[in-house]
Amino acid sequence: MASSGNQKLWGGRFAESTSALVEKFSESVSFDARLYRQDIRGSQAHARMLAKVGVLSAEDADKIVSGLDTILAQIEAGSFEWSEKLEDVHMNIEARLTELVGDAGKRLHTGRSRNDQVATDIRLYLRDAIDDLVGMIDRIAAGLLDLAEREADSVMPGFTHLQIAQPVTFGHHMLAWREQILRDRERLLDGRKRLNRLPLGAAALAGTVYPIDRHYVAEQLGFDGVTENSLDSVSDRDFMIEFCATASLVMVHLSRWSEELILWASPMFAFVDLPDRFCTGSSIMPQKKNPDVPELVRGKAGRVIGDLNALLVLMKGQPLAYNRDNQEDKPPLFDAIDTLSLCLQVYAEMIPAIVVRRDNCRAAAAKGFSTATDLADYLVNKGLPFRDAHHVVGSAVAHAAQKDCDLAELPLAELQQFSPLIGDDVYAHITLDASVAARRSYGGTAPEQVRAAIARARGN
Ligand code: ARG
Repeated sequence: MASSGNQKLWGGRFAESTSALVEKFSESVSFDARLYRQDIRGSQAHARMLAKVGVLSAEDADKIVSGLDTILAQIEAGSFEWSEKLEDVHMNIEARLTELVGDAGKRLHTGRSRNDQVATDIRLYLRDAIDDLVGMIDRIAAGLLDLAEREADSVMPGFTHLQIAQPVTFGHHMLAWREQILRDRERLLDGRKRLNRLPLGAAALAGTVYPIDRHYVAEQLGFDGVTENSLDSVSDRDFMIEFCATASLVMVHLSRWSEELILWASPMFAFVDLPDRFCTGSSIMPQKKNPDVPELVRGKAGRVIGDLNALLVLMKGQPLAYNRDNQEDKPPLFDAIDTLSLCLQVYAEMIPAIVVRRDNCRAAAAKGFSTATDLADYLVNKGLPFRDAHHVVGSAVAHAAQKDCDLAELPLAELQQFSPLIGDDVYAHITLDASVAARRSYGGTAPEQVRAAIARARGN
């Protein structure tokens, strides 16, 4: 054999070895080593399939499977030596396998390519990650449900334009958060369905000459089926983009919650207390207790949205089929998974610990004429058209504002100046509790509706 100038697994046609700078530039093992479990599982399924169709002897397949088990144990024990020279997780493991089991190891790569191998590994990885994330969302949703139940009667201001609009209950607000994250849960699982197809068997791009059984591999790896087109199989990263889009949306939701918690925890609102263990102090101002956790979540939303952008831009210029650009898909994907996972865990812990300052919430709701709509509804009930009632109440509000008091604090005679339809039963309609209790339309803020929603959510 002519002496080769390059010792790589692919080095046969090369006359000189790779520059050290290019090795450093092009390696991915520093970030794709975390795919080792999926890579090993995929290789074991591939080897068993090759034996089943007669491409590999049963003996070689056994050696491969047990060699890979040994490697798995070494990696988990921290005794596996990763080498940048071997580029990526796939070649690190394959090279070690060959050291361990000899020629059988060299036969493993029959009928496949790293292009379909890496596509398989990431799908397996992301599938597991989605399952973990869904579990975290379930914890959050359960926490919100408990908090909603605890605060089903707690009145707080509801806002539009961040101006006090109508009273709502704190429980109702928590159920709104829950709806947001449950839609995200659905989105994650929907994306999971589309990614759960096996691309292995596409080989480099065109399929393979070996009589492989892709369905058998799919079955072993828990895929719902196989991908249809080999070119698409090695180049498709849609599932990652979909995931990062959903992850971004979850982060947008968590960021909006954070914004509310930050406002509510400030002394100007003082609607909630976040326990000390979720806050930090200031190195200069001794009185400070800062809501760093929600602030960091709000900040990290930017990272995940950035990860989505990175993937979209990564893909937009790529012709079929595999291009090395695709190696750059992993850092943003992993970053999105890691960031989202941390933020969800932090929220799952923080939600049950939120202390609602009910008196402050109620006092705030009593400001800003939050029951003005109730006065209008009262007049509608007495026969006045809504548009006229709106006008009447507007004048009454202007009057109360001038006197610096609430509508409910105006004496009856003064209220009657605005409409003779107003009787002394009006006060029963414009209190905070009457206002929320009256909004008992399906999905409304009435404690009765909040409890009904909680019961539906609990399945009773
Ligand atoms: N490390 C590569 C990646 O992440 C694996 C595939 C390499 N394929 C290739 N033709 N060089 O995409």
